[in-house]
Amino acid sequence: MSGITRVPGLLYGGDYNPEQWPEEVWAEDVRLMREAGVNFVTVGVFSWARLQPGPDEWDFGWFDRVLGLLAEHGVAADIATATASPPAWLVRAHPEVLPVTADGVRLEFGSRQHYCPSSAVYRHAAARLARTIASRYRDHPALAMWHVHNEYGDHVTECFCEASAADFRRWLRDRYGDVAALNAAWATDFWSQRYGTFEEIEPPRAAPGPVNPTQALDWRRFCSGALLACYLGEKAQLDEVAPGVPVTTNFMSMFKPLDYWTWAAHEDVVSDDAYPDPADPDAHVGAAMNYDLMRSLKGGRPWLLMEQAPSAVSWRPVNAPKPPALARLWSLQTVAHGADGVLHFQWRASRAGAEKFHSALLPHRGTAGRQWASTVALGGDLARLAEVAGTRIASDVAIVLDWNSWWALELDDHPSARLRLRDLVASWYAALAGRNVGVDFVPPDGDLAGYRLVLAPNLYLMSDATAARFTSYVDGGGRLVCGFFSGIVDEHDHVHLGGYPAPLRDVLGVVVDEFRPVPDGASVPVSLGGRAVTATMWSEWLEALTAEVAGTYTSGELDGRPAVTRNAYGEGRAWYVGCHLGGEIGLVLDEALADAGARPVLDAAPGVEVTRRDGPGNSYYFLLNQAGRECETPAPDGVDLLTGAAVRRTLHLPPYGAAVVKTARA
Ligand code: GAL
Repeated sequence: MSGITRVPGLLYGGDYNPEQWPEEVWAEDVRLMREAGVNFVTVGVFSWARLQPGPDEWDFGWFDRVLGLLAEHGVAADIATATASPPAWLVRAHPEVLPVTADGVRLEFGSRQHYCPSSAVYRHAAARLARTIASRYRDHPALAMWHVHNEYGDHVTECFCEASAADFRRWLRDRYGDVAALNAAWATDFWSQRYGTFEEIEPPRAAPGPVNPTQALDWRRFCSGALLACYLGEKAQLDEVAPGVPVTTNFMSMFKPLDYWTWAAHEDVVSDDAYPDPADPDAHVGAAMNYDLMRSLKGGRPWLLMEQAPSAVSWRPVNAPKPPALARLWSLQTVAHGADGVLHFQWRASRAGAEKFHSALLPHRGTAGRQWASTVALGGDLARLAEVAGTRIASDVAIVLDWNSWWALELDDHPSARLRLRDLVASWYAALAGRNVGVDFVPPDGDLAGYRLVLAPNLYLMSDATAARFTSYVDGGGRLVCGFFSGIVDEHDHVHLGGYPAPLRDVLGVVVDEFRPVPDGASVPVSLGGRAVTATMWSEWLEALTAEVAGTYTSGELDGRPAVTRNAYGEGRAWYVGCHLGGEIGLVLDEALADAGARPVLDAAPGVEVTRRDGPGNSYYFLLNQAGRECETPAPDGVDLLTGAAVRRTLHLPPYGAAVVKTARA
């Protein structure tokens, strides 16, 4: 069993949109699905207008026949609640369903995802459709999973209409209780922003100048929650009508608008849509980071790649195809990072519509040509890896990721507008990935106890409680590396006074006297462990209190001052990195990894990515040649499940080649 659905082994397939095709085509679809080894498809994602042609009209006959064909051919269905694009009749009868931008523009019908998250009409109609679908198909033999909505927050993440304003006020009342508490949290004595009643409050619409930062931060929290409420409204129907069927909604990787820690807590299975750009030679690193996050969102449980492009997408300015070997490698990479299924957008390429030039498992050309050969080959590869399903990944290192801090960091009017959380995290992640050190993500209130090393590339916003947990983690023997501009404000975006980063000062043993962001194009030289490196984007006037100096600025006003420090604290040790080192952060991480006793999964050849999944009796090493040139790499002794060949000490991998070596449990 894969563990994530009733379907055994790894899942393989994609979005199936039969409503775009005459019925004669469906028989060919299911026959070819079988031929390719497809065992799982998502159906009905954009079918609302077809399933419910009018307020009280329903048309399930065609959908019954689609699901019947799938069941007959042994293809399991991830049945969508179909609520991502409300039909024309609904928006014409209730124009207030359409979302409004910060400038007051009401967005029109004619694309998709056109709904206000706070609209009672939308929420009611969506819950009703979800319930109707669940009631009809709860016992259907094809049903394996419910797919709620599609990519919440895609296109529309916020709405500024009157219904949203009222919902925001209700949310604020729940959060603060009375307006005095809100005034204190929002620091409304600044610029005469004091409110007398909740009724005076509006969303942060287009305004003459900077809006109140705590209002903006609360708005981000509210918007993530408003979409979550839509999801929960549908999920409640599914759980009531069809208890026991796993429920998911597809995420969009490391997506700023939605706090996926909060969301994942309400999912049975985390699923993700991933579209790394084949034209970007480093895309696999960012992809791996996203996959590690997806696995971490439910504490390491297998997740599901819900969508990827078999080759090119259609929505970049220039849409590069994936060479077949790269497409295969990137599919295997998702399994390497804990996915128990590889699904695609989409099964059959659309003939018309906005996505007609998006690749598909079954292209316009049909079964002749290279894409279909790749489609069939991938089905074979995934079948050979069936026993990997359900196995887990153990990591020594954790990166702390907090959406609240992300939102607050990227508000306006900071020392530098260049700080972007995803980029900061990615630069640290890339250093670890290059060393094949396994990484989990943890939320700020997550359990750190099982990790040898905890990394906080940036936690601008930090409550006293989080800082205390980090401090006691280090006190108890943990290793922590903390990046600049962390521990600066509390949960209301008010500065922690007394010298930055006040709540972490003891554990880090430093105080920051002044931020010195580095102008675009400039850099600051740093000496780090005897190596000359450069910092860009950020530097600080840093004073070591109890910490030792591990790196020093070597010119200008900061000449001789600490840039990187390490502090023995209790049984553990904490590093502070006061500047942006880009890829050179690896030098600091090397020291911390060694001190923590954290090891790479395997010392492989350069360019070979390695992960390990562990089952009860066996381990599975994934060796992925991301380098695009052939190589000879050290490998564990075992059997390559993809070829059946025995592996002894080394492996030859062609460009973009991969091996999955099964060994006795490591
Ligand atoms: C996703 C979406 C799919 C399809 C795909 C194309 O964001 O969920 O419906 O549009 O992109 O790449």
